[in-house]
Amino acid sequence: MGVAVEIDGLTKSFGAQTVWSDVSFTLPAGEISVLLGPSGTGKSVFLKTLVGLFRPDRGTIHIDGEEITSLHERELYRVRRRLGVLFQDGALFGSMNLYDNIAFPLREHTRKTEAEIRAIVNDRLDLVGMSGDGEKFPGEISGGMRKRAGLARALVLDPELILCDEPDSGLDPVRTAFLGELIAELNRTTGATFLIVTHDINTAKTLPDHIGMLYLRRLVAFAPREEILASDDPVLRQFLAADMDGPIGMAEEKDAVGNGKGETLPEEQYRGEHREDA
Ligand SMILES: Nc1ncnc2c1ncn2[C@@H]1O[C@H](COP(=O)(O)OP(=O)(O)O)[C@@H](O)[C@H]1O
Ligand SMILES: [Mg+2]
Repeated sequence: MGVAVEIDGLTKSFGAQTVWSDVSFTLPAGEISVLLGPSGTGKSVFLKTLVGLFRPDRGTIHIDGEEITSLHERELYRVRRRLGVLFQDGALFGSMNLYDNIAFPLREHTRKTEAEIRAIVNDRLDLVGMSGDGEKFPGEISGGMRKRAGLARALVLDPELILCDEPDSGLDPVRTAFLGELIAELNRTTGATFLIVTHDINTAKTLPDHIGMLYLRRLVAFAPREEILASDDPVLRQFLAADMDGPIGMAEEKDAVGNGKGETLPEEQYRGEHREDA
């Protein structure tokens, strides 16, 4: 079954650069949430912070009630065992075939026999439509197949929380639709909680229960899908319509940030709106 993730006041910087600050929302247990945001707004950093790869400067993350930002590496390891992560690039080991890539978490985290491992790996390969592809190497398959293999690997430990970073980038519209259907099916059958970063508007409009959006170093919204789709917020409207006209520009640093003349920063305008706890 899925676990809830409560994020409170989360802030992350690299040196002087704040990626995002004061992010607070709850991923509801067993539901699918989508995280949107222009490129470079820190979506990948956010997912990596949730799995403890980055430590936030401030704030807390409770996964199934357990605060994880202050855990030691060994304790994090135990928490990570409950999570499945599909990184943006698939993050498969190039030197291993797909079978060994997918078996890796089982060999790393469990004491299962090779026969038990084989049954699980073959099941997950089948699930993502890749039965028979175990012998192939990441370098000899398409980007879409690498994503599906990465998803198969994310599923081997029966995770209660599944994080997917742009699982559909580089896929054609038909395969993107199939992938969305696969995620919905996994959510129905396993009850796992999902957080999916995507740029695919169609996915965002159909798949999730909740939608969140990062923009200008803030979480500008996190709310039920229908509420977001009906929102008047100019940033949300522009993003969901893929419209060139609006506050979002070509480069994030040119977007309407404060000009040092004491005017209200757009991020202050957006702060807290649509927030679940607002
Ligand atoms: N390991 C790192 N060290 C320093 N800066 C980083 C690191 N990882 C990401 N960043 C910076 O954080 C910002 C957000 O990156 P990212 O999360 O990849 O954006 P997105 O996934 O939304 O496109 C970028 O400015 C990026 O350069
Ligand atoms: Mg990213």
